[in-house]
Amino acid sequence: MGAKIRLLREEPVRKVRFPNGIDAWLVSGYEYFRAVMAAPQRFSSRKDEIEPQLRAVSRPPEDNAAAFNRADGDQHLHYRRKLTKEFMVKRIAVLRPRIQQIVDEHLDAVAARPAPVDLVSTFTLPVPSLVIAEMLGVPYEYRQAFQEAATKILGLNPTADEAQQSFGRLVHILAPVFDARLKHPREDLISRLVHEHPDLSRAELTSLCVGLLIAGHETTANFSAMAILTLLQHPGELAKFTTRPEAAGQAVEELMRRLTGNSSGGGLIRRAVEDVEIGGQLIRAGDWVAADLAAANLDPALCPHAEKLDLDRAPVQHVAFGYGPHACLGQNLARAELEIMLVSLFSRFPHLQLAVPVEELPFRTDMLVYGVHSLPVTWSNEVDAPAA
Ligand code: HEM
Repeated sequence: MGAKIRLLREEPVRKVRFPNGIDAWLVSGYEYFRAVMAAPQRFSSRKDEIEPQLRAVSRPPEDNAAAFNRADGDQHLHYRRKLTKEFMVKRIAVLRPRIQQIVDEHLDAVAARPAPVDLVSTFTLPVPSLVIAEMLGVPYEYRQAFQEAATKILGLNPTADEAQQSFGRLVHILAPVFDARLKHPREDLISRLVHEHPDLSRAELTSLCVGLLIAGHETTANFSAMAILTLLQHPGELAKFTTRPEAAGQAVEELMRRLTGNSSGGGLIRRAVEDVEIGGQLIRAGDWVAADLAAANLDPALCPHAEKLDLDRAPVQHVAFGYGPHACLGQNLARAELEIMLVSLFSRFPHLQLAVPVEELPFRTDMLVYGVHSLPVTWSNEVDAPAA
């Protein structure tokens, strides 16, 4: 029995101290996780004080005009509602051919390089940020600068100054885009935001756009890299994946469920608004709560043999995208990106292999989203060479 499963059975709600010295209740188990996430009136998302963090040094929350993921009730809905339709299945379906094109261009570039190639820097990191740039409507000539600033903000532990500088750079890049779309709207998210919601200030517009970039970039980048690695380590599951592209959507769901189970356990952070009893423990008003998404997705109450990756598994209601009113706004986009990235990569490179032993991979262990800093791969030249 894995350590996470043992703990979720024996002590599903327990006090832990985070590396930055803040104490929180770690709530494990599928039902308790959902109970916390579904009750925003009892467990607030507001984080205007230093919150439990996996990094030893806490940074105080940034001043972010429209950080609706850290807000409750009407304040949360005020912004979330303005974006909801942008991420509906229908809108994402329209974007799929462009995502495919971006993915194909990056795979062409991978194929043109001599192996080994690091798939993180060439594929899994740039694709999600370009997809968001595309969705927002950031013009082509600004893409490079947009991506550089994004990579800096999202890089490992940027200093507060570096993050601030890159944020300033993004503000600088986005300002003329807002002006241009105000005069000449196009079919993009920024055009719709500036025209349909003239009440939004520049600061709000900027923080909504940068917020989407941050929320959608690191998560998708890490998941795609980990999904590639996991499939390479499970040839039987990879064979199922490649021989049944029509079932790729369901395979992505199982990969998401199982891979979130590997995250290092920071959990989704909430704060009790009132005294609440959960799992036999009294959580006092004001206490921090870390709802353990990883343990929830590995809970045998969710599915049998939950620790096993099984692409044949019947669909289950995993919580990789959270649960309740703050559940991931971008989940349809993330699903489309992951499916297109994985299907395209393995059909283009059916003989893909890790170029180093897995123990030598540099894993990121301090993040909610577990990942690798680089993923060097190689492939058989005869079969996978670029088309002449
Ligand atoms: C594999 C990829 C992704 C994963 C695993 C993921 C996971 C999550 C989770 C667990 C939450 C809930 C956080 C909480 O309740 O505290 C969340 C929220 C959110 N996600 Fe994602 N996400 C992914 C991709 C994306 C993408 C592509 C976007 C958009 C571009 C996005 C935008 C958001 C936003 C805006 C929120 C805040 C929602 C709110 O507070 O109402 N995510 N995501």
